[in-house]
Amino acid sequence: MTVISTEDANPWRSQWHLRPDTVYLNHGSFGPPPHPVQAEQRRWRSELDAQPMDFFCRRLEPAWFESRGVLARFLGTRPENLAMVDNATYAMNVVAASFPLQPRDEVLLTDHEYGAVLRIWKRACAKAGAEEPVIAELPLPAESPGQIIDAIASRITDRTRMIVVSHITSPTAWTLPVAEICAMARRRGIAVCVDGPHALVQLPVDLDALDCDFYTASCHKWLCAPFGSGFLYVSPRQQAQVQPPVLSWGRLPPTEIRTWDDDFAWIGTRDPSAFLAIKPAIEFIESVGLETFRQKTHSLARYARQRLVELTRQTPWIPDSMDWYVSMASVPLPPGNAAQLQDELWRQYQIEVPIVDWKGQRSIRVSCHLYNDTKEIDALVSALAELL
Ligand SMILES: Cc1ncc(COP(=O)(O)O)c(C=O)c1O
Repeated sequence: MTVISTEDANPWRSQWHLRPDTVYLNHGSFGPPPHPVQAEQRRWRSELDAQPMDFFCRRLEPAWFESRGVLARFLGTRPENLAMVDNATYAMNVVAASFPLQPRDEVLLTDHEYGAVLRIWKRACAKAGAEEPVIAELPLPAESPGQIIDAIASRITDRTRMIVVSHITSPTAWTLPVAEICAMARRRGIAVCVDGPHALVQLPVDLDALDCDFYTASCHKWLCAPFGSGFLYVSPRQQAQVQPPVLSWGRLPPTEIRTWDDDFAWIGTRDPSAFLAIKPAIEFIESVGLETFRQKTHSLARYARQRLVELTRQTPWIPDSMDWYVSMASVPLPPGNAAQLQDELWRQYQIEVPIVDWKGQRSIRVSCHLYNDTKEIDALVSALAELL
């Protein structure tokens, strides 16, 4: 069993209440919130439980829209372009259910998209009688953003209506050139939905400048907001056709529904504290400094990549550059059972890290947040040296 003391070495670690028996290198899947965010969520929950009528009928809407305003500023867009929804999955479902596909239309994704996103679009295409989603295979290894754009462009046909592309990919942790992809799609009159949960904080996200049609994300990954907080961005040119999957009052009466996003505010009685604690999450990460965050976590991810390459003698699929990866490093592993290795790392060494089985290739994806440090990477490498 590996118990690592990281308290002294890392000034940020004390901001999290992480289990001391665990080496947590999977912020990319589930990112725990730091203390100030947990405290603010608890405060909202207590207010709700102490006087629900006052909370729901008078306090909630102003707080909801204030939180959305802070998020919109962080994302470089106007609040009216954002709906706060539970997570990226919810947001992607809204896009797929609202986007008007006709029989024989095509939706284009890359082979690095999140598995559940592919399922969502398969169902939407089948329902509409459209073609099965078209999958653009990205070059492996990849050397330039131009190759990525060419690989996507080569699968566009006159029936392509929508391109769904990750800002940072899930199985491989690549940063994709989404601005160039959006520009290329706009020239051809094709909509783009960017799947962005890993990009918040790791990359500057400036939605108005990006000018995609849709952007879906979870704030409970790198932004460290509470679990169950995410958003859907919809460009003004697409807003008229977006429909909420769950229809309720939208805005509590007597306020009337005026814009598309109103319908996403009240979707039935529930605990909205996760959304109200987005604001302290942004304040927390801004108090660290976004550039400081990126430099620190990238140098750790780079250290992980180098040490894993030394161990495995495998060649990574992307160049060693911050243009290609920031806080998550992915390194191929020798062939073998991915699920078993992940399980052994946890059971024998208390290390949480995803071992990915992607297109028949085994790899490891190491997430580095502010609370991680090199001792944890060293522990991972020692464990792998015994297990591989
Ligand atoms: C690229 C990508 N898209 C979507 C999701 C779904 O995120 P969530 O489970 O927060 O909805 C994930 C989750 O890891 C992801 O990596």
